[in-house]
Amino acid sequence: MLVNLREILQQADKKRYAVGGFNFTSLETAIAIVAAAEAEKSPAILQISEKTIDYCGLELAFAIAKTLIDKSPRPIAIHFDHGRNFPLVKKAVEIGFSSVMLDVSKMPEKERIPFVKDFVEFAHKRNVTVEAEETVIAGREDYIQGEAHMFTDPKRAKQFTEETGIDCFAVSIGSSHGKPIPNENLHMDLLAEIDKAVSVPLVLHGASSTPKPLIRQAISLGICKINIDTDLRLAFTDEVRQTLRDESLYDPRDVLRPSIEAVKKVIEEKMKMFGSSQK
Ligand code: G3H
Ligand code: 13P
Ligand code: ZN
Repeated sequence: MLVNLREILQQADKKRYAVGGFNFTSLETAIAIVAAAEAEKSPAILQISEKTIDYCGLELAFAIAKTLIDKSPRPIAIHFDHGRNFPLVKKAVEIGFSSVMLDVSKMPEKERIPFVKDFVEFAHKRNVTVEAEETVIAGREDYIQGEAHMFTDPKRAKQFTEETGIDCFAVSIGSSHGKPIPNENLHMDLLAEIDKAVSVPLVLHGASSTPKPLIRQAISLGICKINIDTDLRLAFTDEVRQTLRDESLYDPRDVLRPSIEAVKKVIEEKMKMFGSSQK
């Protein structure tokens, strides 16, 4: 059942759990996310990045997500992750995504609030929810680069969320995109301050490999959506490497099926860790 972020995150915020924003990079990962949501009876957020759109096209990525979600009884959102190509994000709203993220960290500061406010009006008219990131989040993936940490300023976050009317806010508190960085830490005092200042649900990006105690503490301090991509890509590719040891295999379905299971298992563990199972 397709839903937007408002419905999913309101419940999570009230009952203090978080819902995973899981990026899909292939048909197989999309299948694994929805299968895990069903196995865990959990809500979920199926995320599509600009790199995935370059890989298979906006319409096909959307059709894969929508077809899987329509067959599932679980509440699942289709979310445009790290939207920086704004005309493309607009198109995604028009073709039926239920939520989008605007990543305005590269935009001149003065233009951010008016731009996001206008976009929120456009999206809300279509019942589409909006997440936004104002301060660049560290780490590096192919299309997402934030080499150094720029931490969220709680006062600016308050002004940004109040004036734009966004539905949820992505914080920058020390997590990083991509493969694990040694001694990565989350600034819980800063998160507590942001949570006090901001009234909308908070989103944690770059949460792959973040240990359970930090995740649980972040949830207790207002994080309601947790983005995971790298852990799924690692599980998928590690499993392909294992499977291909059998040199007699030549059917792509036999090569890729074990990877669906491997990714599903990782997602089920995350859902348990986030407390969204059976919700
Ligand atoms: O936060 C970023 C996502 O993990 C997207 O990564 O641009 O390599 O698809 P990607
Ligand atoms: P990871 O690279 O840590 O999985 O972060 C994913 C993410 O934040 C997607 O927006
Ligand atoms: Zn991210």
